[in-house]
Amino acid sequence: MAITAATFEYFRKLVEQRSGIVLEAGKEYLIESRLAQVARAQGFASIDDLATDLGNTGFNSLHRQVVEAMTTNETSWFRDIHPFEALRKRVLPELINLRAAESRLNVWCAASSSGQEPYTLAMMIREHFPKLAGWKIQILATDISTAMLAKARAGRYSQLEMNRGLPAPLLIKYFRKDGTDWVIKDEIRHMVEFRELNLAERWPALPGMDIVMMRNVMIYFDVALKKDILRRVRQVMRPDGFFMLGSAETTLSLDEAFQREQIDRAVVYRLSGAKAGRERVGV
Ligand SMILES: C[S@@+](CC[C@H](N)C(=O)[O-])C[C@H]1O[C@@H](n2cnc3c(N)ncnc32)[C@H](O)[C@@H]1O
Repeated sequence: MAITAATFEYFRKLVEQRSGIVLEAGKEYLIESRLAQVARAQGFASIDDLATDLGNTGFNSLHRQVVEAMTTNETSWFRDIHPFEALRKRVLPELINLRAAESRLNVWCAASSSGQEPYTLAMMIREHFPKLAGWKIQILATDISTAMLAKARAGRYSQLEMNRGLPAPLLIKYFRKDGTDWVIKDEIRHMVEFRELNLAERWPALPGMDIVMMRNVMIYFDVALKKDILRRVRQVMRPDGFFMLGSAETTLSLDEAFQREQIDRAVVYRLSGAKAGRERVGV
């Protein structure tokens, strides 16, 4: 379903306003491929007709469905492996020392897609940190996509999805087979709380975070939004916490308060003195 320039412009604006995702010129094919099914399912003869209809009504669930359809939800278990090695070898051991008196850890996995990232972390904690058994561990996983959040909460994955990065011993230990799918066991599922949160809008009050993982989402945003999000991450992070981005992302030339630290083949970011600290909640 080819689209007109006006239709492209309509969806480009809608998606950027509602999610921060930038659709540059040349991305017409993305709209055509992602929205053809939405248009068909809603009984429209074309994507142009869908745009006309949406343009004539206030924001509703169909606009929302369109925005969600334009998100890229690519993810996998232990994605890029090195960040998880850094968490296991350095970040978690250091936090265990720092928080020994509180026996409490807060992790925020922002843009968690279908859940592989926060569940990977939860399995890793179970596997390698028996010491944390008596701690209060809160793993908050958020995303803009309600479809992804529903899938993540269900913890149900196809064989193809399981083949992407999950070591066999963990598959056997933490999943049960149900038909052709695999379902994550409750002991891991209950370690993660999934909530809807749009990074481009105002965030709800969040607890001070020891680890913020915000991987492979800011690549879709423009510089102004990236800067604004990094400023708010600073307010949510505890001063001695850790921040992690995707391998193609950086805080460099966006926010000088973040100090880059290399841990083997992974990069983590920590806050430098002056700008560190939580200024307020509800950012
Ligand atoms: C490529 S996935 C990354 C998943 C995971 N963090 C990883 O690295 O494997 C990007 C996710 O960001 C989410 N996303 C896009 N825009 C968002 C926004 N404005 N607020 C919150 N999540 C958003 C998408 O729904 C998608 O699930």
